[in-house]
Amino acid sequence: MATRVIAVANQKGGVGKTTTVAALGAALAARGHRVLVVDADPQANLTSSLGVTKDRLGTYDVLMRAAAAASTFIDVTSAALRVVPDGGSIHLMPASPDLAGAEVELATAHDRTARLREGLRDDVHRFGYVLVDCPPSLGTLTLNGLVAATEVLAPVQCEYLALEGLTQLLGTLRRVRERLNPGLAHLHLAMTMFDARTGLAQGVVEEVRTHFADLILRTTIPRTVRLAEAPSHGQSILRYDPAGRGAEAYRTMAAEIEARGVAGIAGAPAPES
Ligand SMILES: Nc1ncnc2c1ncn2[C@@H]1O[C@H](COP(=O)(O)OP(=O)(O)O)[C@@H](O)[C@H]1O
Ligand SMILES: [Mg+2]
Repeated sequence: MATRVIAVANQKGGVGKTTTVAALGAALAARGHRVLVVDADPQANLTSSLGVTKDRLGTYDVLMRAAAAASTFIDVTSAALRVVPDGGSIHLMPASPDLAGAEVELATAHDRTARLREGLRDDVHRFGYVLVDCPPSLGTLTLNGLVAATEVLAPVQCEYLALEGLTQLLGTLRRVRERLNPGLAHLHLAMTMFDARTGLAQGVVEEVRTHFADLILRTTIPRTVRLAEAPSHGQSILRYDPAGRGAEAYRTMAAEIEARGVAGIAGAPAPES
């Protein structure tokens, strides 16, 4: 099977990108896949949430062509899973704060948005899934994620104004497809932080559904304090609270993503605004 490279992107901060990369990555590994998660955010939340605290070679060095991608991979399987199935594993390409400088240092490079794709080229076939955690902007780092990707997953928070910004994201995706990466085929929208106690959340889900019907994953991620706690323990939710609702939801999402890959979503509308 060809590697599926999923850029997890939304220029809004705090919508659940990093949480989704860690949890979905762990859930895919739990299904027996070899998974690589790439931290492309200078805040390095994904890196610390998987228990990696020391500065290491990482995404910055790959983008600057100062390190081979494979030399940056850290095996974080034991931080992600209690029970590791045959064949399942998760590796991390970590971020460090110097990643913030990449945007400026690459400003005049003509191929600045293709550096991650280039860096991964020799190693990507070793993985079934690569998930890229993008920063909350549509700058060079996010573009590197989108250019390397075969698919985009955009978490959408179940809150008032959830749709704000999605139009801009869809416009960016269209331009990336036209100019930089025609292979960017699929867009998935994932509703996150759903709080059943508020009627608001249900209304938001319905509103997004009327606009983006087929793009929305059936799996909705609930708001649970366990998901917010897991990062400070350096563990994925599947290791920290495997029996809880958060882990359950991300396991369901992993199965859905896997099934969408097999069936394809060719019938779904192109990511256009
Ligand atoms: N489903 C959820 N339930 C509760 N808290 C969540 C959930 N998803 C994310 N969070 C918390 O919300 C904050 C923002 O999430 P994060 O994944 O870091 O967003 P982003 O990467 O888009 O900025 C974090 O503190 C995270 O722990
Ligand atoms: Mg983040």
